[in-house]
Amino acid sequence: NRFVALLPAAGSGSRMGAATPKQYLPLLGQPLLVHTLRALLGCPGLERVVLVLSPDDAWFEPAWVAGMDKLTVLRCGGASRAETVRNGLAALQASVAADDWILVHDAARPCIGVEEVERLIDTLRDDPVGGLLALPLADTLKRADGEGRSLATVPRDTLWRAQTPQMFRHGMLLRALESATHAGITDEASAIEALGLAPRLVAGNERNIKVTYPDDLALASLYLAERNR
Ligand code: CTP
Ligand code: MG
Repeated sequence: NRFVALLPAAGSGSRMGAATPKQYLPLLGQPLLVHTLRALLGCPGLERVVLVLSPDDAWFEPAWVAGMDKLTVLRCGGASRAETVRNGLAALQASVAADDWILVHDAARPCIGVEEVERLIDTLRDDPVGGLLALPLADTLKRADGEGRSLATVPRDTLWRAQTPQMFRHGMLLRALESATHAGITDEASAIEALGLAPRLVAGNERNIKVTYPDDLALASLYLAERNR
């Protein structure tokens, strides 16, 4: 079976509040997206990396990816992340088999490490469902009433924070996203769960943050600088 990374990069970065979508903001002198691409292209287990941009993306420059032989750039992003991934999977249909593995990874997670990608692949390569990188929670959790008063403390031993990559077979994931009509689908795993299947949680890395708000950029550049040192 093949292992292919699919990177949704068609978002507008509204929570970042910058004029440019966050995947194009500079991080240690490179567009954020280029760090993400480099990290995945450095994973020996991945045969191919597919980047999905918005059809009206005005920022991407082909020169950034010159020489990246394992990379394919598509311009079929959609209005939501799920739609971007669905369009990317549909575009790949002719070149992958239904049981090939797709690792969907947020373009906005530039600190992804080879180590956790390889752990995900090694843990799931024979799994019937697939799964995702995830981490336990550190904070104490509260269940609130409508007025902002805490009613109870929620046991956190069964709760995890989902990260990416999320790794599922092409055929199953496309079917899951095509039947996922409701807006509550924020990641691939939730679409798979809606089919009644239980994705496996594989230990991720605290540093694999999603750059969402301005402060996240400083943290990401610190992590990347430490790695490159
Ligand atoms: N994404 C995408 N297509 C969309 C929306 C999001 O490909 N229509 C991608 C983003 O580019 C990002 C990843 O999905 O790499 C995670 O999404 P998120 O962090 O929510 O990014 P944005 O949607 O761009 O940010 P915001 O929600 O703040 O607008
Ligand atoms: Mg978003």
